Amino acid sequence: MERMRDWGLGPRDSGAAVLSLYQKFLRRFFPSLSSPSLPPPPPVCIPLGMLDDFPDGQGKPVVIAGRKIVIFRLGEEVYALHNACPHNRVPLSAGITTGHTLICRAHRARFDLKTGAVLHGPARKPVRIYPVRRTGDTLEIEVGP
Ligand code: FES
Repeated sequence: MERMRDWGLGPRDSGAAVLSLYQKFLRRFFPSLSSPSLPPPPPVCIPLGMLDDFPDGQGKPVVIAGRKIVIFRLGEEVYALHNACPHNRVPLSAGITTGHTLICRAHRARFDLKTGAVLHGPARKPVRIYPVRRTGDTLEIEVGP
């Protein structure tokens, strides 16, 4: 108990506080151990379905690898974005498309469907996009780390 007080910990400190202290110790005395040296895992391609599974001009929400994603089909082109507006987390699946622009229904922020870039506020951060591959009418989505 005395030693815990020496380290700035009390008897009611949580495991998270102890873990944080341990991580500080590792960073200070073993910096090579605490900095990840392994490259991130490569993206994974997951079957998405057929082109006709997605209605033209509308957003279809899906959950892939635990991620909420919205798929927009514009004719022969298919785009996948994170299904939450970066402004206030409203689902973008209810958004409206005009050309390659997606308009959030909540506060009318506009995003580029191809890049996820903000075209008009109030959103300031882009929407994450996921590459979609098409082979014939079969679609695959690339989900990274
Ligand atoms: S939640 Fe989308 S613009 Fe505000």
